[in-house]
Amino acid sequence: MTQKVNDLIEQAQQQFAQATDAASLENAKARFLGKQGSLTEMMKGLAKLDADAKREEGARINQIKQQIEALLNARRAALAQAQLEARLAAETIDVTLPGRGMGAGGIHPVIRTWQRVEEIFKSIGFDVADGPEIENDWTNFTALNNPENHPARSMQDTFYVDMKDDNGLPLLLRTHTSPMQVRYARMNKPPIKVIAPGRTYRVDSDATHSPMFHQVEGLWIDENISFADLKGVYTDFLRCFFETDDLELRFRPSFFPFTEPSAEIDMMFTSGPNKGRWLEISGSGQVHPDVVRNFGLDPERYIGFAFGSGLERLTMLRYGVNDLRQFFEGDLRFLRQFND
Ligand code: PHE
Repeated sequence: MTQKVNDLIEQAQQQFAQATDAASLENAKARFLGKQGSLTEMMKGLAKLDADAKREEGARINQIKQQIEALLNARRAALAQAQLEARLAAETIDVTLPGRGMGAGGIHPVIRTWQRVEEIFKSIGFDVADGPEIENDWTNFTALNNPENHPARSMQDTFYVDMKDDNGLPLLLRTHTSPMQVRYARMNKPPIKVIAPGRTYRVDSDATHSPMFHQVEGLWIDENISFADLKGVYTDFLRCFFETDDLELRFRPSFFPFTEPSAEIDMMFTSGPNKGRWLEISGSGQVHPDVVRNFGLDPERYIGFAFGSGLERLTMLRYGVNDLRQFFEGDLRFLRQFND
């Protein structure tokens, strides 16, 4: 009997040792402790014995069972430990490796211009406002005196959004920052003196046009703001921006539905590499009486000017960049030059 018992324990130990994963260990366990396992069979044999022998034999079987269970638990623990070690080895990190380094990052040249423009206008008492890039067609076009059939409204120029706003108005990506004139003027009392820089969108793409670009809108409305004020403010602005007095401005008659009269502002450097060339820099004009009315103001009383300038344009002139697309290609060799 003892020999048989020792064999059984040895067998269990061997078979448990051969099991290399949890599933095969459970199979091995079943062969000893399961319903048809060797120990269960031994238990069944007890029925044939008398009371004394039953007690003695029963106690012995229990002891064997405990030993086999102990072997089983030991093997389970060993397998779990081995698995953990394998995982730790696979997921190991070399803490002695040098770090990848944190890029310092830099400010995009167009954003530098944006910040510069804000600083200059703030210093002469202008507020800075921000508005939605997804606009409704009333604020972007209608309120600005842009007729229903104006080509700027068409799909060729404008990115329409496949949705309407709460008032059922078509939505679009704003084609200029001018809708901010309307938004700001309807929310603030005169005198109104504000710039609104931001992103604008048009279906346009070549060396001097990008489908997304930046503008800064300017608006000054009060009881006696004239074209002369526009000239003065804008000339001062450009001199600050380019850090030179060696530039001249030209107000070239033009047309915008929301200003009357309207002018394109051209500038010319009178020294430096761009000397002598007139460069178009901004649209501008005296705000149209119908637009002043759409501001919720009386055009008999309030008058003023507006301008809208391209931030990419200003950036190109300041740094001598000749292809606007470079601003949006994300080439670090180009961008780094502005952050040294
Ligand atoms: N919104 C005009 C444009 O995008 C520029 C402009 C602004 C003209 C304000 C006059 C007054 O071309």
